[in-house]
Amino acid sequence: MLNKKTVRDVDVNNKKVLVRCDFNVPLDVNDKSLITNDKRIIESMKTINYLVENGAKVILCSHIGKHKEMLSLAPVAKRLSELLGKEVPLLVDVIGENVKAEIDKMVTGDVVLLDNVRKFKEEEENDENFSEELASLAEIYVNDAFGTAHRAHASTVGVTKHLPAYAGFLIEKELDALDKGINSPKRPLVAIIGGAKVSSKISVLTELLNKVDTLLIGGGMAFTFIKAQGGKIGTSLCEEDRLEEALGILNKAKGKNVKVLITQDVYAADDYSNDANKILAKSDDIPDGYMGLDIGPKTLEAFGEEVSKAGTVVWNGPVGVAEFSNFANGTNSIAKLLADSSAISIIGGGDSAAAVIKAGYEDKMNHISTGGGASLEFMEGKILPGIAALLDK
Ligand code: 3PG
Repeated sequence: MLNKKTVRDVDVNNKKVLVRCDFNVPLDVNDKSLITNDKRIIESMKTINYLVENGAKVILCSHIGKHKEMLSLAPVAKRLSELLGKEVPLLVDVIGENVKAEIDKMVTGDVVLLDNVRKFKEEEENDENFSEELASLAEIYVNDAFGTAHRAHASTVGVTKHLPAYAGFLIEKELDALDKGINSPKRPLVAIIGGAKVSSKISVLTELLNKVDTLLIGGGMAFTFIKAQGGKIGTSLCEEDRLEEALGILNKAKGKNVKVLITQDVYAADDYSNDANKILAKSDDIPDGYMGLDIGPKTLEAFGEEVSKAGTVVWNGPVGVAEFSNFANGTNSIAKLLADSSAISIIGGGDSAAAVIKAGYEDKMNHISTGGGASLEFMEGKILPGIAALLDK
């Protein structure tokens, strides 16, 4: 349960409200004016509509891409205008006199969008003066950017030193779902963890061992575990410097009575490409010159059996190279398993969320997080700075 004040706890009527959203949506690689998935915008609408209906002057703020990319939020302003049925102007800047002049013209119920906040490197530096300037645009601050809550930036943390800071409905919904799923789940709780590197998942695996009944490990990271146990993995991805840590995780699992299943069979390829020659092999006996790029049918069956018995399933990270259509079957099949299962399904953001959405199973999941890094850090048991900075209840 969120122990922070939310937009419900403040009178926003006729107030200038600065709302940090995560509109870092994917854009078409060939045409940066096209949004390929608007989930993050759609999920922000509940807070925006609430503020409009309650007479606020809504000043939206977000990043898109990295500082060096200098992407425009124009496609987001266009989509917001469509969703709200009225124009949401994209202001020419983030701070400064011109922006203040535009905001001074706003009447209750108006919505504007500031320029990409990462246009300023001071944003990511959580610069004191920049935070103060940004805060000076408004009287109230609302953070609804769950996807950016793990970043201590000016627009997520710095501004909270200067404005009363509340959570939006998306942050409330995300924390509620992730917290219930992980900390008070319907059991058995099964976690499916994939992705390329063990190193990026060590903390989450370690933390999950305190919570889950069953841990299913797939993706590139599985091979470090397989090699650590003496398996022959060909040219599969392996972090040699993490072998001991991988064994440590398996030992800890034993000590905690957590059942661990690791990829048993794989589709292996003679090259890291979609069109490489593909063979089916045992995951601990991959021929020289071949690398595992997807889970095989036996693994899928074993994972499926655990999912069918689960009360809750938490999934983070693809189990194969999902961006190669010839090696995406495992990841798509996991999405289907979850869609068909009666378990409560919680999808960490990022690649696994993208796979579920691409496969058309979005409506069949209980919760798909809008945060990749943020949901991972939450599962690691870390405190998210963007949430910690909000007013306590
Ligand atoms: C995300 O896409 O995970 C968030 O928008 C945060 O973006 P960042 O990883 O560039 O900080």
